[in-house]
This record gives sequence, C-alpha cells and structure tokens, in this order.
Amino acid sequence: MRRKMIAGNWKMNNNQAEASNFISSLETWLSSDQTGKKAVSAVSSGEIEIVLAPSFTSIGSAVAAKSTNLIQISAQNVHHKQSGAYTGEVSLPMLEDAGCKYVIIGHSERRHVFGEDFDLLEKKLIATLESRVLPIFCVGELLEERTSGNMKKVLSSQLDSAWNSLTSDVIGEMVVIAYEPVWAIGTGQTASDSDAEYACDFIRTLAYDKFGIAASDSLRILYGGSVKPENSASLLSQSNIDGLLIGGASLEVEQFERIITSAL
Ligand code: PGA
Repeated sequence: MRRKMIAGNWKMNNNQAEASNFISSLETWLSSDQTGKKAVSAVSSGEIEIVLAPSFTSIGSAVAAKSTNLIQISAQNVHHKQSGAYTGEVSLPMLEDAGCKYVIIGHSERRHVFGEDFDLLEKKLIATLESRVLPIFCVGELLEERTSGNMKKVLSSQLDSAWNSLTSDVIGEMVVIAYEPVWAIGTGQTASDSDAEYACDFIRTLAYDKFGIAASDSLRILYGGSVKPENSASLLSQSNIDGLLIGGASLEVEQFERIITSAL
C-alpha cells in the first residue's frame, strides 16, 4: 500500500510567527481532537504523511515549532549546486541542515513565472536524489495544451526529460510526482475526479513502461490544483491518486485539518 501524502504548499505566504502558530495549532489538533488522534495513528502506522512547505525564511521557525515528528517540512525550491557564487539561491545541504525532508521541484509557477526549463529541472531532480532531501516533482499541462489534445504529450515530455537517467529503485522509493494541471492551480477550477485519475493513471503507466511494475506500483502520485475540504475525499478515493498538494486551502489550519481528515 502506498502511503498517502497530504502536503501544503504555502508559496509566498506565512511569516515566521504565522508558520509557527500554524504548526502549534495543527499539533494541538493532532494531540487533543478525536479525529486528530486518528490522524496520529495513521501517521504512526505509515498510512499517511503530513507535509508543509513554508517559504525559506519560515522553514526555521516551522521546524522549531514542531514538538513531534508528525509533520514533515518541505522547501518549495532549491538550487542544484552544493555551494558557491549563486546569489539568492539555497542549496540542498542548506535544506538538510534546516530540517527539510522534502523539496518541491518544477512547480508550475517555477516553470511558467520563473522560466525554469527541462534541463534545469532535471539537474535539480538529480542533485536532490543525491542528497538526503526527497523530491516532490511537479508536472502539469496548460489549458491550451489540454484543449488542443496534448495533455499526454506534455506530461510525457516533462517526465521523460526529468527521469531519463534515473533507475527503477530510485523512482519507486524516493520520488513523489505531483500532477498539477496549470489551469486548476489557484483558479478554483479543480480537475474532475475522473480527469485527475486519468492523468495520474497515465503517469503511472509511463513509469511502468520505463521502470517496470515494482517501481510503478510503489511510485506516489499526488494531485494538486484547487483542492479544498469539499473535494479532497473524492479525489483521494481514486486508485491512482496517492495524496494531495494543496496551495490556498493549506493556509487555513482548519481547512488543512479537514483535508487530512478526508484522507483517514
Ligand atoms: P492551489 O495551489 O491549491 O491554491 O490551487 C496548488 C499548488 O500550487 O500546489
């Protein structure tokens, strides 16, 4: 069974105090609420994983606010070099040192707003897999790519260019893929359960074709794009969706708790 991941991507929101308050409230819910306690046993038994991705400046306070290991911290971006003259960038050893278990790579905002291309994203993925931080690698098509019937072509090329040199054990054990259709991100226009499942199933088939059955069976694939407490349960009930990457709805602790609840 694949462990479900409920991951909040805070983007450029939540300063240090806000990050710390959020973590404290979430931990209080986990330790004192009936459903929260159910979530704790699901985390402890390895059924689900709770992840939050603060901005770089709030990672330290989020880590410091944790009194348990129930919540894992992710970064939202990284540079592929270990150190050096790269003004404004943050390295994998720095993320490790700060307490990050994961890093999001290739989010659509990085691809489309900041112009990160296939070559750069492949470098970031490979460097991450050589570190102790694990990648959550995002793929997804633009609206015009979907309406012109090119969704599969886009997903294949985004994945092929990134995982070309990887091996099946790495894919199965270390990589998390997030399918995030760009037209669904921050728009309130969630993909239907069947559209999300279709794309995630397609991604798993690509993994099967390239890496075989063991890797494709254990590969975790998340859906992201306007996930809310109202649609999370039905998305999670799809057989190829192993978790959710949540932007807007992860900024409100109560909404995030309701999404965790829907995964139990
Ligand atoms: P959204 O963002 O939930 O606000 O649509 C998702 C994401 O960008 O990861």
